[in-house]
Amino acid sequence: MIVAPSILSADFSRLLEEVKEVEKYGAQFLHIDVMDGHFVPNITMGPMIYEKLKPQVKMTFDVHLMISDPHFYAKEFVRAGADYLTFHYEAVNNPGEMITYLQSLKVKIGISVKPGTDIKVLEKYLPDLDLVLVMSVEPGFGGQSFQTQALEKIAYLQNKKQNFGYRYLIEVDGGINEGTAGLCKEAGAEVLVAGTYIFKASNRKAVIQGLLDL
Ligand code: DX5
Ligand code: ZN
Repeated sequence: MIVAPSILSADFSRLLEEVKEVEKYGAQFLHIDVMDGHFVPNITMGPMIYEKLKPQVKMTFDVHLMISDPHFYAKEFVRAGADYLTFHYEAVNNPGEMITYLQSLKVKIGISVKPGTDIKVLEKYLPDLDLVLVMSVEPGFGGQSFQTQALEKIAYLQNKKQNFGYRYLIEVDGGINEGTAGLCKEAGAEVLVAGTYIFKASNRKAVIQGLLDL
């Protein structure tokens, strides 16, 4: 299992230490939640926040754009060190065009869907994706409860992946904890994003190890 701590729940006054700690415990991805106050009713961080972390961290930078104009900002997020750049299906008029643009930026390409979006809308884009991010909460805030319809979406993606040999990773984000992580794994998830569960834990090492061992 790939574990992706979401820095949304980290202590930003000690960001590098927080990130180094989860890296030390074996997390492979660093999940970076970008919110613009427009696509979602919350504002978080831009590329300058992680640009300076990048040279000091070995984890894969997994940037989740919850913004209304991902096309306009994509280049800057790649320049600052995104390894995977994920945009929301609901934020763009033409996902195919966005994929072509991201291919030109030489970044790994992810698409995310909100809980209310049918996963089948992604069908024709699946061959071109490096990652599909299934939202198991409404994007915008950490600490919400897992919505179980995500499990069917994960299973759909795993099924397509096996039948067609697609390369994308299946990632799930929102409400991951000791109860929901196993369900996601069983459904076919390959990357677990966890914010509250990791950063608010009294024993972060044990929590990360538990997820890695699923
Ligand atoms: C929510 C973000 C998530 C968030 C998850 O919009 O995309 O990555 O940090 O937080 P938890 O794990 O607390 O649900
Ligand atoms: Zn996220």
